[in-house]
Amino acid sequence: MKKRSAWLTLFCMAWIIISCNGVVGKRKALSEGQRIYLAQCQRCHGAYGNAQLNGAKNLQYSTLNMDERIHIITNGKGVMPAFYGNLNAEEITLVASYLDSLPVAP
Ligand code: HEC
Repeated sequence: MKKRSAWLTLFCMAWIIISCNGVVGKRKALSEGQRIYLAQCQRCHGAYGNAQLNGAKNLQYSTLNMDERIHIITNGKGVMPAFYGNLNAEEITLVASYLDSLPVAP
């Protein structure tokens, strides 16, 4: 009986550790995307994606899917610079997914 509850405790602890890991991992990916966004994109798109400086599109209303975003961020378009030399593929994916969590302008 004692042995069984020890295993149960162990199982619960492992489960808690594994689920915390998942949450922390996700949070890290998000804040990394945000860090890149604020460093590279804010000057035209603004902190909320809606600044539209230098003719930039309002990202809050963008209907592009992930592939299309990655394509534009990688290769640039019109006034928007290409980021392939500046960001690696992983960073481009992170910042492209960050666009889904742009905060709404106050
Ligand atoms: C020098 C200003 C500038 C910077 C810096 C910039 N952009 Fe842009 N962005 C633009 C302009 C201008 C457009 C509109 C391009 C067009 O359609 O002609 C645009 C368009 C886009 C689009 C397409 C939106 C749509 O719905 O068509 C996405 C996505 C985008 N930018 C993401 C980013 C991301 C992510 C970054 C940072 C890595 C970034 N931009 C940095 C100027 C900029």
